[in-house]
Amino acid sequence: MIDPKNNAIFVKDLTVAYHEKPVIWDLDFFAEKGTLLGIIGPNGSGKTTLLKSILGIIKPTTGSIKIFGQPYNRKLHNIAYVPQKSSVDWSFPTDVFDVVLMGRYGHLSLFGRPTAKDREIAQQALEMVNMDQFATRHISQLSGGQQQRVFLARALAQQADIFILDEPFAGIDIVTEQIILKLLQQLRSQGKTIIVVHHDITTVKKYFDWTFLMNIKHIALGPTQTVLTPENIALTFCAPNLFNDDVNDSI
Ligand SMILES: Nc1ncnc2c1ncn2[C@@H]1O[C@H](COP(=O)(O)OP(=O)(O)O)[C@@H](O)[C@H]1O
Ligand SMILES: [Mg+2]
Repeated sequence: MIDPKNNAIFVKDLTVAYHEKPVIWDLDFFAEKGTLLGIIGPNGSGKTTLLKSILGIIKPTTGSIKIFGQPYNRKLHNIAYVPQKSSVDWSFPTDVFDVVLMGRYGHLSLFGRPTAKDREIAQQALEMVNMDQFATRHISQLSGGQQQRVFLARALAQQADIFILDEPFAGIDIVTEQIILKLLQQLRSQGKTIIVVHHDITTVKKYFDWTFLMNIKHIALGPTQTVLTPENIALTFCAPNLFNDDVNDSI
């Protein structure tokens, strides 16, 4: 029996619907503390919805979600989130440093302003992603890879225990991909838990200790070597209609 307290994230019997149509169906998922875990599934299979449910952004229809064995209590500094690039509003009027400083907001007291210490932590985070020379640049005036590094710096500044990244490697150059991967591996060696939605099946074995395959439903979860089999990949990517029909039959 899996004990939720040993897991950074524990999701049981999760069903999530938009306009009464389920897009996640009776799904179980967990992430052990200190793992670098990849989530794999085709477009529209509910990956982003799962992350938003864990973050409390979307309210599930049914199911339970525990963070370190506790109900998610909106303590924002516990989980750092790097959203999918397509969902970010780049017209937001702010520069790189202020985006990173936002990572500190969960640590401030009510109406508190960032302190010199907060600014120092934000500066260090920018240096970790090699973006300190862009501190005063508007975020819209950066390449895709640079923008992704700034959002990772914001997550680092948050000093969270869990990092959740939605397709951080989509549409970026290989150099940025390696910088981000190295940082994620460093975080893991500090005992952090990192969950990454990933689209490139060819790099899963190299990047992730654990892999979760999903398509509306749970397909397989475990050490990557064990679960990334041709059968599980086929089940994940080749039978979307089967799963859709199954969902529709059940409602
Ligand atoms: N805000 C929304 N309103 C209605 N349907 C949505 C919304 N967001 C996502 N969906 C639908 O839910 C399904 C799962 O979406 P999503 O979780 O974004 O998948 P993935 O991240 O795996 O591509 C898709 O069919 C998508 O069209
Ligand atoms: Mg998505």
